[in-house]
Amino acid sequence: MKSLEKIAIAKLTKQQAAEELSRLAREIARHDDAYYQEDAPTISDAEYDKLRQRNLKIEERFPSLVREDSPSLRVGAAPLEKFEKVKHRRPMLSLDNAFGDDDIVDFLNRVRRFLNLDNDVSVAVTAEPKIDGLSASLRYENGQFVQGATRGDGETGEDITQNLRTIKNIPLSLKTKGWPKTVEVRGEVYMSHDDFLHLNKWQVEQDKAPFANPRNAAAGSLRQLDARITAQRPLHFFAYAWGEVSDLPGDSQMEVLKKFSKWGFSVNPHTVRCVTVEEMISTYKSIESQRADLGYDIDGVVYKIDNLDWQRRLGYVSRSPRWAIAHKFPAEQAQTVLQDIEIQVGRTGTLTPVARLAPITVGGVVVSNATLHNQDEIERKDIRVGDTVIVQRAGDVIPQIVAVVSEKRKTDSQPYEFPDHCPVCGSKAVRSLNPKTVKLDAARRCTGALTCPAQVVEKLKHFVSRNAFDIEGLGAKQVERFYEQGLILQPADIFTLEERNGKDFEDIGEQEGWGETSVKNLFAAIEERRNISLERFIFALGIRHIGETNAGLLARTYGTFEKLYESLIQAQEEDSEARKELMNIDGVGDVVAVSMIEFFGEEHNTQAVDRLLAQVAVQPADMPELDSSVAGKTVVFTGTLERMTRSEAKATAESLGAKVSGSVSKKTDYVVAGPGAGSKLQKAKDLDVTVLTEDEWLDLIK
Ligand code: IVH
Repeated sequence: MKSLEKIAIAKLTKQQAAEELSRLAREIARHDDAYYQEDAPTISDAEYDKLRQRNLKIEERFPSLVREDSPSLRVGAAPLEKFEKVKHRRPMLSLDNAFGDDDIVDFLNRVRRFLNLDNDVSVAVTAEPKIDGLSASLRYENGQFVQGATRGDGETGEDITQNLRTIKNIPLSLKTKGWPKTVEVRGEVYMSHDDFLHLNKWQVEQDKAPFANPRNAAAGSLRQLDARITAQRPLHFFAYAWGEVSDLPGDSQMEVLKKFSKWGFSVNPHTVRCVTVEEMISTYKSIESQRADLGYDIDGVVYKIDNLDWQRRLGYVSRSPRWAIAHKFPAEQAQTVLQDIEIQVGRTGTLTPVARLAPITVGGVVVSNATLHNQDEIERKDIRVGDTVIVQRAGDVIPQIVAVVSEKRKTDSQPYEFPDHCPVCGSKAVRSLNPKTVKLDAARRCTGALTCPAQVVEKLKHFVSRNAFDIEGLGAKQVERFYEQGLILQPADIFTLEERNGKDFEDIGEQEGWGETSVKNLFAAIEERRNISLERFIFALGIRHIGETNAGLLARTYGTFEKLYESLIQAQEEDSEARKELMNIDGVGDVVAVSMIEFFGEEHNTQAVDRLLAQVAVQPADMPELDSSVAGKTVVFTGTLERMTRSEAKATAESLGAKVSGSVSKKTDYVVAGPGAGSKLQKAKDLDVTVLTEDEWLDLIK
């Protein structure tokens, strides 16, 4: 009889096709192994491709015969909408770090003490490279790979089965026999240096952003919703740990690793068993000395207690096992020239200096930017443009400038002057005083809150938020879109949207996600907010440190926006009465006062406020009726309120001159308790504070 592999695909019977697919899966896996694990291919690329083609064609003829471990599945499945969550049956732990030899001695002593071991009992550990990639958990049932997940937060990860399937050195079915019925093999997905450089070159050719380092490249490749993209990325996997196992295949870490290897996994070949501290440290040194030649990033050595019974007894504290520790390598450093300092403005207005460096390789990764943190950091290290600096990269941390090489400083160099104006919008950038430390804030911030392009989207989102203008149908998402389209660039634009609609820009109703009715409703909702309470209005401006409480205080103190506005313009003068008055308001500290003064001292902001005032009518605050029954009293609301919302209850109480507090103390006059009230109610009873139901409270305030 003709051997199966010679029979043309069109002539195969179903039975023969099934047998042939099984043979091909085995044979291709064998070649994958020779190529990826042993680095010693036994057939040519062309022959290999032929096998894969044959496998694919047979599957096309007999789709029902596609095997779980089919090599064709390695090319990736159709894109997903999102990753499903996977709850880990055993948590995926992280490791405690050790930085010096002393920490290793301490680690062993802790283990000895915990296990109460006699001095003559030796403690063996495995030492293996700590791979700088991302961990994954692979679940096998009856020897078949059925599910793979990311670490996530250690408790819950994401289902990336389709992506992991594409990694050539992850077995789709376990080799040999004798594996447990269920086993979760855990390890690290990583990308080699060569592959990383290659991929980045390609990225740049394709006009795409290059990855910062191999770890990011691996992460970006693995977390692709379209696994066909992952399939094109050269990822690898090292197995080093496990999760749920129906039957542990050994008594020591080493034995289990050997089994992993037998089943078809790559286990790091630099793994060594040590029995003394000296051996551990010399292994660490040896691995460190090979670091540059390994061809992939590692950031330390992991020691694990070899005896699995001891591992079980040692267990873990919070997120890390007591039986393992990571001995980190010192951060890698290099020298380069600081070409420029660029100021970036974040969405909250913070000015962050970023160092632009002459590109330099630090630990195998090209670095061209480094964070400079803030003004103080630059001054403390006296970092100047043109300086030669020492750059350090430690693990995932963004590269940092450790120090200036002062011998290499040019004679004409000038100290760096940190800008006092926002490079994006030109507003003043200030450092406020922190009242707690009585020191200047580390961050310098742009004061052009309402108009600075770097911040305005965040400010607009705040402006429309629930406790501010609360415009139905205009949430964070819509604001962001309207901003991007240039339709709403500052708060006042919201109120002219209808007027401009269909004239200055295409009718919003024609846009995706909108229809005639929803646009009509939106305009109606905006109209409804042309009348706004003073308190909400102040809060909506999004001034730093002005939350609802302070907005309320300011509203009740000044009564009308005109009065507040006028005072703040006068308060720009250092010795003005207005400034004194502001600082003297009970409950308004210096921080709040200064922040208000800064905001109103910025012309960009007052212009935006003026434009807004042309659109909306700010209602005067309800002045507290000081003869009300609750004026001057302190009240705490707790439990569920049924006749009003919590914000409403608070606002009403405050308008009557009561102070609303979040916690019960001897000074509390009333606790208004609804269903579900707990510890606050108990405390009120303990302190003999008057407790009212919601109805009784409403009676009291009529
Ligand atoms: S063992 C129970 N071994 O390091 C301990 N982790 O900081 C589980 N890692 O999340 C980890 N190489 O991503 C272990 N040989 C190795 C490792 C390793 C890299 C990573 C892993 C883990 C992180 C902990």
